[in-house]
Amino acid sequence: MMPVSRMKELLRERGHMVEACLAVAFDGRPIPQRLKDSMQYSLQAGGKRLRPVLCLSAAALCGLPIQDALPFASAIEMVHTYSLVHDDLPAMDNDDLRRGKPSNHKAFDEPTAILAGDGLLTDAFLLMCRSPVAPPRVLRAVGELALAAGSSGMVGGQEWDMIFTGKAEISLDELRGIHAMKTGALLRASCVCGAMLAGASDGDLAAIGTYGASLGVAFQIADDILDVVADTATLGKPAGSDVAQGKKTYPALLGLDTSRALAQEQAETAKAALAAFSGQEAEFLRALAEYTVNRAA
Ligand code: IPE
Ligand code: IPE
Ligand code: MG
Ligand code: MG
Ligand code: MG
Repeated sequence: MMPVSRMKELLRERGHMVEACLAVAFDGRPIPQRLKDSMQYSLQAGGKRLRPVLCLSAAALCGLPIQDALPFASAIEMVHTYSLVHDDLPAMDNDDLRRGKPSNHKAFDEPTAILAGDGLLTDAFLLMCRSPVAPPRVLRAVGELALAAGSSGMVGGQEWDMIFTGKAEISLDELRGIHAMKTGALLRASCVCGAMLAGASDGDLAAIGTYGASLGVAFQIADDILDVVADTATLGKPAGSDVAQGKKTYPALLGLDTSRALAQEQAETAKAALAAFSGQEAEFLRALAEYTVNRAA
């Protein structure tokens, strides 16, 4: 088993690689300065960089040099960051703090935050297309990412999240479905796209897909739990926001203990899906599954 300290070191190192790539993502193009500042403000505000690191590590697990997956992985972080900028808007979760700083619409204004999100999402696909990997592999990964991030994935899940907020009762099956769409799909795709860029076999893609999907649901359950048990300073976003808004969450539906047990169960499923893999990258991915449910923020 990989020691936690080594896992954190790798997460940090790879996160820094992504940040360096993001820092120059808009260079050389005529972008209004305020829009560019707004996009970089949210991109460079910190964050765990879990999705791009999953992409890099799944690619490495399947034999691709990490550097070759870096543009694609960084693009995934752009898609994720756009989703956070829009998620915080007054029309959605109306949260004023993100990654320890004022949310994008607070630091700038609502129109700029909406457009920064639009820019991050669209420009992400430009960066993906610049992957230094055989075009058929890139095309396949781009399609996978679009499917996961779009209306039948993350965006669709966000719509369900809003529909259920403060309103109808919800069944566990419905909640599981929402979590799988709004959060699980992008985390799963982060892993699968890395493997696709590496030209992984169908069997390996299936295993990595199971890993990513389970980790994704575990991740959102943990996010729901942290909203209840952690404080704003640690989270870098407003604690207690879900309860305040009447969000449908695992703790609200099942209580904290059952939620913790379900998150752990999903993390175990994720780890088990990688049973056929060995070596540093497999150890790292298993450690990340554990981190997903045991993290403090
Ligand atoms: C927050 O994601 C949004 C969810 C899907 C729960 P993260 O917790 O990964 O946010 P950052 O990237 O670390 O800020
Ligand atoms: C957001 O879920 C999922 C996204 C696709 C952005 P949350 O609304 O729970 O995320 P946080 O807690 O604001 O980060
Ligand atoms: Mg939300
Ligand atoms: Mg939110
Ligand atoms: Mg949340």
